[in-house]
Amino acid sequence: MEHPNNIVFSDLALELKDKAHEIAEKYVRPNAAKYDRAQEYNYEAAKAVAEAGLFKTFVPKEYGGHGAGVLALCLVTEQLARADSGFGVAFAVNALGSFPIILGGTEEQKQKWLPQIANGEKFVAFCLSEKYAGSDAGGLSVTAELDGDEYVICGEKKWTTNGGVADIYSVFCVTDPSSKSRRISSIVVEKGTPGFSIGKIEDKMGIRTVPVVETHFDHVRVPKDNLIGGRPGQGFKHAMMTLDCARPGVAAQAVGAAQGALDLAVVYANRRNQFGQPISSFQMVQKMLADMAMKTEASRWLVYSAAAAVDAGVKNITKRAAIAKCFATDTAMEVATDAVQIFGGYGFMEDYPVAKCFRDAKILQIYEGTNQIQRMVIARNLVRESEALKYIEDYIPREVQQTFQDEEVITGV
Ligand code: CAA
Repeated sequence: MEHPNNIVFSDLALELKDKAHEIAEKYVRPNAAKYDRAQEYNYEAAKAVAEAGLFKTFVPKEYGGHGAGVLALCLVTEQLARADSGFGVAFAVNALGSFPIILGGTEEQKQKWLPQIANGEKFVAFCLSEKYAGSDAGGLSVTAELDGDEYVICGEKKWTTNGGVADIYSVFCVTDPSSKSRRISSIVVEKGTPGFSIGKIEDKMGIRTVPVVETHFDHVRVPKDNLIGGRPGQGFKHAMMTLDCARPGVAAQAVGAAQGALDLAVVYANRRNQFGQPISSFQMVQKMLADMAMKTEASRWLVYSAAAAVDAGVKNITKRAAIAKCFATDTAMEVATDAVQIFGGYGFMEDYPVAKCFRDAKILQIYEGTNQIQRMVIARNLVRESEALKYIEDYIPREVQQTFQDEEVITGV
């Protein structure tokens, strides 16, 4: 196993990043405002992404992909999101939806679906959240019952990103309501399957180029071969493993979003004259720009380090992924807010792109696990790992240790 902090950019990853930058500046940025206003998917950019082979980035080589890994996925996502955060997720959500198959699928399932995803022929979505199960991902109610050789799926999913555009849906369903730990399974549902439909299309504050919808399952019958991994009860684990791999991708979207807002703020501050000089010459504006740059750069390296750890096969990447996601997405919101401030009155107007940066940033702190959930995950892992620090216990005052034992203090995590 490689050292977890060894961040190596392969030639392929850098090549994919450059291609993503080219596409972002040619097809994404120039049309970002148009698709945002119309709340329409940018198919032209998605086609360019497919033709450049960028959907191959996260698909293993054996299934028609580049096998370039999560670090490369992050580099590509960052470039796309820098031009339009909404398009960044429109791309990255395909990886999120594919990870259950990549990580947990059988050989046949990988052979069947991954090559089409790699070619950009088929888009993917991840159906986990429900009306009454958001942060509590284990509390699902969509059911899948085995009937002969088929699963029959009933219920509704909420906030399916890419819903309607996607052809392949990784759907998390309750297959064993009586079980605590093996309650959930992940099952692939393909577009066009009778009983499967798109419900409400959400009218969103940001990331408006990518659809977020309700997905409805009215006695949807799929072959039991669509059960990811072939064994029921693996779904929750698949969901958690998927999120561990995908959260660095959301974090990369946040780095792109922050960099995009910072780029705009710097250019504006150099052009905007007040009191006879560019506002970039004022120390208060300089401080804001410097803080924005520092935090963006810190986020970037946290993200690369988490992604590199995933690629290196580091065993427990949950905490690293959560740290990167939480820090980078909080940073994106902060940087976008400051970018609006630097634009002043113009920043508040939709005529200028920075208002969209602000609207787009908010969801980053919410989806793929709210930042409250990330902090909980980080704290849980810290407490677990503290066993390894037992050797410094003697440095904690004895009276305090005694109090802990007497009162059986529960940490709450
Ligand atoms: N990897 C593997 N297994 C894991 C795991 C991980 N990272 N985390 C937990 N598990 C396993 C545990 O070991 C445990 O297994 P056993 O039952 O065998 O012991 C089981 O899963 C249950 O674990 P917990 O007790 O920790 O579960 P919990 O109910 O306390 O919930 C949680 C954990 C972290 C809060 C989880 O529910 C969670 O991540 N919630 C947030 C959900 C989320 O991120 N939703 C985003 C939806 S996707 C979206 O937004 C995308 C979009 O469209 C763009």
